[in-house]
This record gives sequence, C-alpha cells and structure tokens, in this order.
Amino acid sequence: MLKETFFKIYQKLIFGEAKSPRESFLQDVRVDSFTDRNDTPAEKARKILGQLTLEEKIDFIGGYEWFAVRAVPRLGLDAMWMADASSGIRGVGESTVFPCLVSMAASWNRDLIHRSAAVMAEECRAKGISNLLAPGVNIARVPTCGRNFEYMGEDPYLASEMACSYITGLQENGIVATIKHFAANNSDYDRNKTGSDLDDRTLREIYLPAFEAAVKKAKVLSVMSSYNPVNGVSASENRRLLTDILKNEWGFGGFVVSDWLSCYDAEKPFNAGLDLEMPNAKYMNRKNLMRLMDKGRITVADLDDKVLRILTSFFAVGAYERPIADANAAENGPAHQKAAYDAAAEGIVLLKNDNKALPLDLSQQQMTILVTGSRAKDTETGGGGSSRPVAYRKVSLKDALTERVGQSGKVIYKSSPSAAQMKKADAVVLCVGFSYCTEGEFHDRPWKLSAKDRKLILKAAASQARTIVVLNTGGAVETEEWSGKVPAIVDAFYPGDPSGNVIADVLLGKINPSGKLPFTFGKKWDDYSSVSNYVDKPEKFGLLRITGPAGNRTLRRLKKPFVYEEGIFVGYRHFDTAGIDPAFAFGHGLSYTNFEISGLKLSGGKMKKDGSIEVSVTVRNTGNVDGSEVVQLYISDTESSLPRPAKELKAFEKVFLKAGESGTVKMILTEESLRFYNPSKQGWCVEPGEFTVSVGNSSRNIAETAVFTYGM
Ligand code: BGC
Repeated sequence: MLKETFFKIYQKLIFGEAKSPRESFLQDVRVDSFTDRNDTPAEKARKILGQLTLEEKIDFIGGYEWFAVRAVPRLGLDAMWMADASSGIRGVGESTVFPCLVSMAASWNRDLIHRSAAVMAEECRAKGISNLLAPGVNIARVPTCGRNFEYMGEDPYLASEMACSYITGLQENGIVATIKHFAANNSDYDRNKTGSDLDDRTLREIYLPAFEAAVKKAKVLSVMSSYNPVNGVSASENRRLLTDILKNEWGFGGFVVSDWLSCYDAEKPFNAGLDLEMPNAKYMNRKNLMRLMDKGRITVADLDDKVLRILTSFFAVGAYERPIADANAAENGPAHQKAAYDAAAEGIVLLKNDNKALPLDLSQQQMTILVTGSRAKDTETGGGGSSRPVAYRKVSLKDALTERVGQSGKVIYKSSPSAAQMKKADAVVLCVGFSYCTEGEFHDRPWKLSAKDRKLILKAAASQARTIVVLNTGGAVETEEWSGKVPAIVDAFYPGDPSGNVIADVLLGKINPSGKLPFTFGKKWDDYSSVSNYVDKPEKFGLLRITGPAGNRTLRRLKKPFVYEEGIFVGYRHFDTAGIDPAFAFGHGLSYTNFEISGLKLSGGKMKKDGSIEVSVTVRNTGNVDGSEVVQLYISDTESSLPRPAKELKAFEKVFLKAGESGTVKMILTEESLRFYNPSKQGWCVEPGEFTVSVGNSSRNIAETAVFTYGM
C-alpha cells in the first residue's frame, strides 16, 4: 500500500499528469463554422491558420498544462491532450496495461500489435486523449539501457514492422501516434548530456530505419526528438535530422514534438524544424520569437508551417471534430483485458527447456511447487518512468499459481527457502528480475541480476533438478553463471497487468509459448561490441540523476559522447559476423511442440532491378501440441564493396499450426531487402552479385539456404 502511494506520488511529481482532458474549453463555437466537413485535413488546417493572429500562432507551438496543444476556443479548437505511452495510458487514472514494447516485439505478430494499439486508442478516446506518445523504437545497442523495455529490440527491420503495426492501430482508430525518440538515444545514462557520435552508414542502416518506415509506410503523424546531442548537435536543434532527412528526404508531413524539457534555445530548434515545444513554451514563446522575428532571424512562413503541421495532424484523425471524450468508447472492460492477456501470452519467450521440465502438467501428477525469488510475490508489470501506467489490477506469480493449481497440487511460497525445502518440492519456480525503480527511465540498469537472486538460483539448482527460472526483466541479463545448471528458463519480460496470470499459464501449459527474442543474450558483457566505451559501473548512477540538471548546456558539453565505434555491427550482426556464440540468439524461442521448416523455394534465381522474389517454405508442427512458429528470413551478401553483416533479418511470418499440421509460408524480397547505405555516394545502393537466403526459426538455427543473383 505504502509502495503504491509512493509510486503514485513519484509518477505525478516526476512525470506529470494531463490536467483535465475530459473538460472541454469550448462553448458554442464549432470548428466547422470555419471549415467545411468535406475539406481535406490540410485544407481545414489552412482555413484555421488564416484566422489566427500572430500571437495565437506562437502560443500554439508551445505546450499547455504539461500535456496539451493549446485550445483556441474562439475558433472552436479544443485542447489536444497527450499521454504516455506504449503499454497503456498513463496520467489519466488507471488503464489496461499491455506488455512492455520489447515483449510485444517478441511476439513477432503484426496483427496482435495492431489490435493492442487499437484497444489503447479506444481507451485514449474514452479518456479524452488525442495523442499517445508511442511507440518507442530506439535500438537496443547496450543491454543495460534503462529504457530497452520500452523499445522494440536490436533489429531495425523487426522494429520497423512492429512500429508500423502499432502506429496504424492507433491512427486508424482516431489517435495521433508519436514515434520516439529521434534519434540515436540508446542509453538513459545522463541522457541530456551524453551525446551519440556515429557515422552516416550506421545511422541510416541501424538507428533510422524504424523512423523511416513509420513515416513512409505507416504515415506517422508525429515524431518526438530525443534529449541527446547527435554528432554534437542536440536532437531538438538538429536541422539535418529534423528537416533535411525527416521532412525533406522522407516527406514527413506531421509535426516534430520535443521531448519534455529537451529544448535549450528558441532560435535553434525553431530553425532546425522542431514544431512543438513541450511541456511548455520555455523558449519558443512570444517574447523570444517576436524578438527573433524583428531581427529577421526566423520567419512567419516557418511559424505557419509548424502550426499547419500540428493542425493537419489532429484534423487527420478527426480529433477536432468529435467530443473531447468519446462517450461511445470503452475505457476498460473484459475485451481490453483479453487483448492485453493475448498480447502478453505471445510475448513470452521460452529460452530453455531441457528434459521437458516445462510445462508443469498437473493432469499427470499432483505436484508441490515451491515459488520463490525477488519477483514471485511482487511480479512486475512494466519498467519505470513515463511509460508506466497505473494498472487496474496486478496479480503476482505466486497468487496466480496458487489459484490455478487449486486442488490439483500445492503451491508453497518462501522468500528464503532452505535447500531441504527446495529438494522436497516437485519443482521450484524462481521469479527474478528488476522493478520499476531499478529498470526504467533516467538511468541505465545493471547487467547482472541481484546477488541475492543469483545466489538463490544456484542454491535451487544444487538441490532441485526441476528448477525453473522466470526472468521478469526488460532485456538481456547475464545468465552464464547459472543457466547451465537449471533445466528451464522463461523470459517473461514485463507482461503488463496480466503478469502473474499469463506467466502461470505458460508454466502450466495452458499457453504454448511462441515468443522469439528481439535481441541477443550475450554470454559475457565484453561479447557485446557496443560496450567498449560505455560507462564503467553504470549501476552506480541511479535515481539520483532524476534530480540532476536536465537541459543544462554547460554540463552537457563537459560529458564525453558515446562513440558508436562498432558501426553497423550491433547485436546479432556482431555476434554472427565475429563468430561469437551468444547465450541465447536473436530470434530464438522454444515451444512445447516442435516444428520442421523445409522445402525452401524461390520464385526465380535472379532478381532484376526494381524486381522481387517470392520465397516459400513449408512448416510442419511435428509434435503433439498446437502452437505457433515464426519463420525468419535472413539475407547475406556474398561479396560486397563494403563490409556487411553475416546475415540480416529481411522478412518473417508467424504461423499457427495444429499438432501434425503443415502450412506454407510465403515472403517477398525486394531490392530494399538487399540494400546498404553507401556513405561515399550518400545514398542506398544494391550491388549486382550473389545473395544467400537463409530460413530458420532463429538467427542461429537455419533450416535451409538458397542462392539468387541480383542485377546480373
Ligand atoms: C520521456 C518521453 C515522454 C515524456 C512525457 C519524457 O521524460 O522521455 O518518452 O513521452 O517524458 O512524459
């Protein structure tokens, strides 16, 4: 209780709340007296712009009440409220809590993510929120980034696909999506001060693709700039990123919003292409902007462009033309809970399962299950920070198992069980991991589990052959010390409010796991290419940073940037190319059944310029349980003028098959699947030659390969 109260105060003080989104500012004036219902969103925006005074335009590009775009009641424009993010709606009371984004990415299921986002959109509309500040797509460059749980793993293609499904799920249902944090914000260690220095090829191939796909394919309406400097220039002031690449090259038509308190000046972000300063007009306000206009340093045309972008985006989802809170939308309910449960169920990854340690089949045998570990009684729903909504309900793994096992066995919970107690049980389940205080925004987190959890795992492994470890974390942790000693490991991530229930259902076999890792578990810290110039002992810099001087330019400049020395060789691109064995590979995930992937066929042996190739394979469920498999397609460029990774994910499909059933999976490769960024030409290129297609169910478990040529 005390903890929950602390959490609510902490959330409110640190992350703020939308003030009163359900209250309308409008009286009798309707926006359609200034626009025509049949106008396009851009035409409506233009008509409104024509009515605004210069002062109103300036006020419009600075946030209001921490979470809103200002209302203009005389023109029938209500405030447009925003909320965080990605796994539910924070700051407007309670919310259905979906699994954290990395878990949703682990589902490799586009439809599931789309459906989850659609449910979140409905809750937004019910609560009077028009803009959800999600999804987050920063690449998991270092395993300890405090916000990796809020992002979609280490692969740009997977993150792009998942982000596009999420965005369309929101925007098709009336909510502006904000993809974030643009760009190269891959650590939360001193995030305002620590810059990211990286070359063009690395930026284009690894850190920008999810944003590019969101703009070009999903037509995302808003992009949030990040806190960090990129190559020495703050993201909110980075004209190359915001204007040259995002707006001019990719044709982004929506608005760029600053991250909260990530502006450090008025003129620079204004001219760089930032459209909306949040949470308030600290810099882009009347005093500063009027002065800059008088001096001719900024233009009204640019101001108009910003206002138009914001107006057009909210018109595009119908937000100005419906009541602020939609009385027909459900704010919660069984259907929403079911959607969150289904998402969580597909996001759990079975990392290891020797000797069929799982599932714990109670129909075969009465069992005594001893439950222990730091997260058994307080199973975590999500990481900490702005992305953490307040759940309606929370069920621990201990309670969920107790309820489910009922009369068919016995569940014993002990926080410090003796070796004898563990030995006496039929199985030991250890739920271990971090909490919203130790893994979350504002700081990075340790690479290892706590000493207490590790000691307990080793003790259990020494006394109980059926020891099952459940990881309740947002990303990779060191497992090498103990993974060889236990038969089963389940990566549950942060499963949202279905937490204990969904994990228990996996352990008891009610759910057949089908999640696949969206990142690599390295064996050793030094196996990751990206940690060579990472901070020493990041765990020493924890919550104290919250009170640090956000946005202090002088201090920021004193810090050394992260230099992305590893270039494009991040995650499995590095492990595979350098021939380092991971603990658990990218794309890995077991099932309670087995699948066979065979019969790889290409529609042709040659891809022409602007052409495509269809790849098909047969998947057969060879076990006796129904289940889903993810067929993954990797491409290798046999010979290239620039070094390329050993393989790169370029297509995937998830398929559900009943026991004994077979299915055909078809995937399409295009030129885009073969390209790399050539810095000397400042553009993408595909070189003629031979390419290998590898198809399997993980980056390290390839079933079949085939070769084709391009442009020859
Ligand atoms: C986070 C953003 C979030 C914003 C508003 C910032 O601290 O970095 O992701 O959307 O707060 O709460």
